Amino acid sequence: MNKTWWKNSVIYQIYPRSFADSNGDGIGDLNGITAHLDYLKELGVDVIWLSPVYQSPNDDNGYDISDYQAIMKEFGTMEDFDRMLSEMHKRGLKLVMDLVVNHTSDEHHWFMESRKSKDNPYRDYYIWKDPRDGKEPNNWGACFGGSAWEYDKETDMYYLHCFSKKQPDLNWENETVRKEVFDMMTWWCEKGVDGFRMDVISMISKDPAFPDGVVHDNLYGDNSPYVCNGPRVHEYLKEMNQKVLSKFDLITVGEAAGVTIEEAKKYANLDGSELNMVFQFEHMGVVECEHGKWTDKRFELKKLRAVLNKWQTELEGKAWNSLYWDNHDQPRAVSRFGNDGPMYRELSAKMLGTCLHMMKGTPYIYQGEEIGMTNAYFKNLEDYRDIESINAYKEYTENNIMNPEEMMSALKAVSRDNARTPMQWDDSENAGFTTGTPWIKVNPNYPMINAKSALEDKDSVFYYYQKLIKLRKENEIIIDGVFKGLLEEDENIYAYERILGDQKLLVACNFSDKTVACDLFETEEVKKGQELISNYIYHKEAVLKPYEARVVLIP
Ligand code: GLC
Ligand code: CA
Repeated sequence: MNKTWWKNSVIYQIYPRSFADSNGDGIGDLNGITAHLDYLKELGVDVIWLSPVYQSPNDDNGYDISDYQAIMKEFGTMEDFDRMLSEMHKRGLKLVMDLVVNHTSDEHHWFMESRKSKDNPYRDYYIWKDPRDGKEPNNWGACFGGSAWEYDKETDMYYLHCFSKKQPDLNWENETVRKEVFDMMTWWCEKGVDGFRMDVISMISKDPAFPDGVVHDNLYGDNSPYVCNGPRVHEYLKEMNQKVLSKFDLITVGEAAGVTIEEAKKYANLDGSELNMVFQFEHMGVVECEHGKWTDKRFELKKLRAVLNKWQTELEGKAWNSLYWDNHDQPRAVSRFGNDGPMYRELSAKMLGTCLHMMKGTPYIYQGEEIGMTNAYFKNLEDYRDIESINAYKEYTENNIMNPEEMMSALKAVSRDNARTPMQWDDSENAGFTTGTPWIKVNPNYPMINAKSALEDKDSVFYYYQKLIKLRKENEIIIDGVFKGLLEEDENIYAYERILGDQKLLVACNFSDKTVACDLFETEEVKKGQELISNYIYHKEAVLKPYEARVVLIP
């Protein structure tokens, strides 16, 4: 058995609510996914990561789970799930489940019991604290606005919720909680799932002193130094590894907010004692802003490159990288890092794909990225569905931190709903996503941008991604070559090489809409090399045209 298949794999993320609706209620579902597996097979991906499909009141679209061993009614039944899984396996596709165990829903029976009384057997499943001077136990803010503490008058105490107040944090210090989680994971593994993407797993161990955080925007204290990469997180993951992960052949990726290189080397250590890899966030945060993520500013290539090159070089030989430009929490890659205007959308989407897929690590494709889907740019607050976007708008405008225009503009640039508009399948009404009314508006550009037209055009982003995936399977250097950054001061070009034995792979990407000189193509060895892929028709000039990407194999 090849135990490191996850290094050679390409992963496709499905956000089930927005992927495909099979019964016309406007909400994507499991049968909708099953109906589109051939499309994913055609693309060539190996693994599907499914955002949560468990029973949930949907305060945060399934990231608030009320039963880990039941399927959300809107998504279907456990029979639908079993059929989907077996149809995936029949096609050689593997399935990664989203594991959300930093918190549950407040409607999970553990929490409903826990809040009943101080001596309830489930009390200690969550993090309860006494008031401090009649108020919250400390100044921490929650990710989705407001305080991270919610008062419960039943017992005159507060519970901790790092996200919404309907997402109480589990108490991982409690051995019984850990056992419950490990048993539940084992149950899914025995059902045949192939791995886990672990939601905010870097947050499961809290600083037991619960100190106040530095206050931002005059609102709340930042808890990240006290909840991210906490004192016992590696101990818990080692225990999870021993009790569950090591017993099955799985792929594991931890979502690790606030992770540093040093921490990542522990989480994703090649000794296999914790996880296979983590999602780091540094390249998502290259645009600095005094109000956290809420800005419409563009990124600078220099900063983006510095972050990505650092992760590439510093994990070399120590830990494995995950590679991604977007997911259900981020705006669309082509809008953020490329150019989503009609002239350059496809070219820049292909360029971004090249830049990412030729790096060292396991690439992730987010649904719709393979056809170059763009941000939604909703004009009205009423069009937004995301709890983070709506709460932030209220909190920032009501406290006069940002005015409504600034905030709407920031939402257009970075709201999570940009990624959550329905998958664009064809040019029929509602993009072929549903025959009913979609739960969130379809991006009006669907007559132009959709999977059907991409499949009919041999130059589409879809076929380009298909080729990128195929190249990875055919060239060991893309998996194992050592990464080396090139032209590290250039303002437009992102270039690097990969080295394996005597072979070299040169990758050069123009992030601008100008033609720029690139002397990397002037050397004899590169001139003699073999062009593996490019988003332009082959040419020999030592320039990169607007958003051009070129990959040359030098034997
Ligand atoms: C992760 C998920 C995000 C969710 C949050 C709370 O960051 O990716 O969608 O809102 O955790 O579970
Ligand atoms: Ca449905």
